Amino acid sequence: MTSTSLSSAPLVLIAGGSSAAGVAVAAALVQAGQRVLTVGSDAGRIQAAAAPTGATPLVCDLADPDAVAALADSVHRDFGPVDGLIHLVGGWRGGKDLAAQSDADWDFLHTSVLTTLRNTSRAFYADIAASPAGRLAIVSSTAVSAPTPGNANYVAVKAAAEAWVQAIAAGLASAAGGETGPAAVVLAVKALVDPAMRAASPERSFPGFTDVADLGHTVVGLFSTPASALNGSRIVLS
Ligand SMILES: NC(=O)c1ccc[n+]([C@@H]2O[C@H](COP(=O)([O-])OP(=O)(O)OC[C@H]3O[C@@H](n4cnc5c(N)ncnc54)[C@H](OP(=O)(O)O)[C@@H]3O)[C@@H](O)[C@H]2O)c1
Repeated sequence: MTSTSLSSAPLVLIAGGSSAAGVAVAAALVQAGQRVLTVGSDAGRIQAAAAPTGATPLVCDLADPDAVAALADSVHRDFGPVDGLIHLVGGWRGGKDLAAQSDADWDFLHTSVLTTLRNTSRAFYADIAASPAGRLAIVSSTAVSAPTPGNANYVAVKAAAEAWVQAIAAGLASAAGGETGPAAVVLAVKALVDPAMRAASPERSFPGFTDVADLGHTVVGLFSTPASALNGSRIVLS
């Protein structure tokens, strides 16, 4: 690939790219010819995650709005506007019943899942809205449509993240609203499985889990699927 075609390739930023899911999504996007920036809060972890993929590692606390604004400035200066934002910052907190849904767990989930999504999507919304193939995606949970007392904190925060994405989709629809143009989408999984998990438990089949490689392929496919078929949709993966 020439430097000219590289520089014209879509630019995708992965928010929270240090996990196995981040590695798989970055690898799939790079393999598809996209320019990929992968962001984590810890330099060592994000560099280790980016190294095997060819993505560019960046360090930022995505829960800090000032840090995210500075990140956006440096991305625009060094790479240009982004075409894609794939938000992967998650985390899990739960308990055996409603009484176990602690305020500390709520605060953790709210910061990790929702504050990072609000910060990153506000910082890069204008880029995505202006891109002919702009894409924003989060990975939510199928538990949102089947809440239980033991996961009330988690599903409430994830439901809020899904609603935030629907708000973005409404904005993108009014900005462009056609076959081509930008789109925001929710990908929902029961759980993720990665090669290390399979190696640690070779006897398990992980029924209903989504392999992180399949998540990566799904994310790549978002960029070649018409916006009219994607914007505002909730796609359940298995
Ligand atoms: N794993 C599952 O079974 C499952 C099930 C349903 C939905 N999901 C969703 O799928 C997505 C990916 O899941 P995952 O388990 O890979 O997520 P994760 O490990 O919780 O988060 C991905 C990465 O985000 C980074 N991160 C956390 N806080 C950050 C911050 N303030 N600023 C920058 N980076 C931050 C972490 O790396 P650093 O600490 O190094 O920054 C972490 O490795 C999430 O949205 C999750 O909710 C996962």
